[in-house]
Amino acid sequence: MKFILKSLPLLLFILPALSVADEAENQIKYRQAVMKAIGGHMGASALIVRGKISHRDQLKAHADGLLAMSRDIPGLFPEGSDFGETEAKEILWERWDDFREVSDKSKTSIENFVKAVETGSEDDVVAAFREVGKGCKGCHEDFRQKHEHNH
Ligand code: HEC
Repeated sequence: MKFILKSLPLLLFILPALSVADEAENQIKYRQAVMKAIGGHMGASALIVRGKISHRDQLKAHADGLLAMSRDIPGLFPEGSDFGETEAKEILWERWDDFREVSDKSKTSIENFVKAVETGSEDDVVAAFREVGKGCKGCHEDFRQKHEHNH
């Protein structure tokens, strides 16, 4: 009892710290899972757009998926989720307005891609898809750490 009472202040101090770390870790895991989903739709779209495969009827679903998952990328990066197993660069939170801007640009390019898939020519689709790719790259170059493994 005495021991517990003695360590209580310490526990009360440690427990919230642990749960904050846990929360940051889950935020990181979640955004990486969302990015993977985005990457999946990109990879599938690329195969269709480049004519490597004939699932043209599924391209709209991939484009919609991309858009749905990209609506609020900054929302995936709450403050405090900057430590642990993350490839997000620290400057992301220091240059938050720039981060928002590249995120908005990327979203616009995806909206244009969705439109091209719905009503554009195949050339429009190819051009719009290229812009989407630039959007991913534009953000990753500035805000994501170089990594050894390939995603
Ligand atoms: C506004 C910035 C931004 C945009 C736009 C963006 N990403 Fe990312 N992406 C990131 C950051 C930052 C990370 C690192 C996240 C982490 O490790 O916590 C990341 C990580 C990833 C990962 C690795 C996920 C993992 O397994 O850890 C993939 C795959 C990915 N992005 C694909 C894409 C694709 C495809 C696009 C374009 C359609 C895209 N991203 C657009 C910022 C962005």
